[in-house]
Amino acid sequence: MSADLRPHLKGALRPNFQWGYATAAAQTEGAWNIDGKGESIWDKLGHTPGKIKDSSTADDAVRSYDLYKEDVALMKSYGARAYRFSLAWSRVIPLGGKDDPINPQGIQYYNNLINELLANGITPFVTLFHWDIPQALEDRYGGMLNLEKYMPDFLRYARVCFEAFGDRVKRWITYNEPGVYSLAGYAAGVHAPGRSSNRELNEEGDSSTEPFIVSHTEIVSHAHCVKMYREEFKPTQKGTIMITLHGNYSEPWDANDPLDVEAAERAREFEIAWFADPIYKTGDYPASMRAQLGDRLPRFTEEESKLVLGSSDFYGMNSYTTFYVKHRTTPPELTDHLGNVEKLDTNSKGESRGPESDTYWLRTCPWGHRKLLNWIWRRYHVPIFMTENGTTAKGEHVPPPPTEEVLHDTHRIEFFNGYLNALATAVKEDGVDIRSYFVWTFTDNWEWAAGYTDRFGVTWIDFDSPEKKRYPKRSATVVRELFEHLIAKE
Ligand code: NOJ
Repeated sequence: MSADLRPHLKGALRPNFQWGYATAAAQTEGAWNIDGKGESIWDKLGHTPGKIKDSSTADDAVRSYDLYKEDVALMKSYGARAYRFSLAWSRVIPLGGKDDPINPQGIQYYNNLINELLANGITPFVTLFHWDIPQALEDRYGGMLNLEKYMPDFLRYARVCFEAFGDRVKRWITYNEPGVYSLAGYAAGVHAPGRSSNRELNEEGDSSTEPFIVSHTEIVSHAHCVKMYREEFKPTQKGTIMITLHGNYSEPWDANDPLDVEAAERAREFEIAWFADPIYKTGDYPASMRAQLGDRLPRFTEEESKLVLGSSDFYGMNSYTTFYVKHRTTPPELTDHLGNVEKLDTNSKGESRGPESDTYWLRTCPWGHRKLLNWIWRRYHVPIFMTENGTTAKGEHVPPPPTEEVLHDTHRIEFFNGYLNALATAVKEDGVDIRSYFVWTFTDNWEWAAGYTDRFGVTWIDFDSPEKKRYPKRSATVVRELFEHLIAKE
């Protein structure tokens, strides 16, 4: 299987299109308690029996803390122009708080990484928060459940990062997928910090209120952080700052049933517009959410609303798949976060949303991706930076060394062929403004509560070897060939 290079899409993407790989600290770095790093909520969850599918921890992960030079060299050989990674807050400020000491070794590590990237011509895109809040802040005041206490701590952390790295980092992302952080951590209770209404799973929590409170904290603190960057750092550092939202596409189960058409739109609003409307459109939550959730959905003060609207320079987007959405005839449950809909793998005609990956929720669906890009562009009209997209593939859990068949990852190649051609078509034929694409992900890594059971990398990792040996998969070459074809020459 090779790159599907379509002649009519040659040069469809702008010459300065940014593409590369995305990762997150907690999933890759390892060195969880080395060189002064403090404990994060994911270190704690990983060390709690029964919480991670394969009982693994991210103590070593893929050792990118130690192997960053080799990784940058490999990434360069893959042709990447940019690298999106996150900073571990508890590596920078081990206890996290505004009056807590900074860890010089943490600063040193990220300086080394940033310098190595720049020396190799790779542009850093840096995420401040990719789900790993310092455990100390969770213990002190309940983390993001407490906006008043949390905000100064987050702002001070961001300030330390802008001061230390902002002379070289020009692309900042405040939060990664605030919605998944709050839904998986406070509604389902399967991600850190592990809270929900389900007492069989979690000792504390309230799935009907906490996810909305936590997301409100993320939105409001994001806006304050951007204000600080724009006022105090942007004039001299001249960077950009945005938030990255998650969003899969929702397609009506029966396109001829107005109730399903409405349900699909409501599902997109509950998933995407929950964050994107306040930030890019209205300064407030969508009416469909207010109608269903009432006072369980927090309210923005007038001042917050003004601050939030326009608080992201671009539309940062992570997206993976599409679902068929069917309306429900029963009233919404108190713990519903989807807009009272059913999400299905097949539509009313029995058509599947796409071939299965090795991850239960993820199927390949390029047409849904094109529709999603169009929906976002039409609703918000803000240039889109795709910050994550990728897939797992069945059959990659083999003993080392991996076979030729595993390394020739046909399923993943087909996924990138489909999605990148869909993206280029959205640009060329639909006029959507898309400026970046980051593959999730560079190497197989620790997929949160799924542990090492979900291999998303274009590089196969031998997790049993002390050096976490890296084996490039064929998809890494295909992605490079696709971009060489799709990006216009200067
Ligand atoms: C989105 C998250 O940002 C990332 O951490 C995760 O590994 C991927 N999706 C795949 O599930």
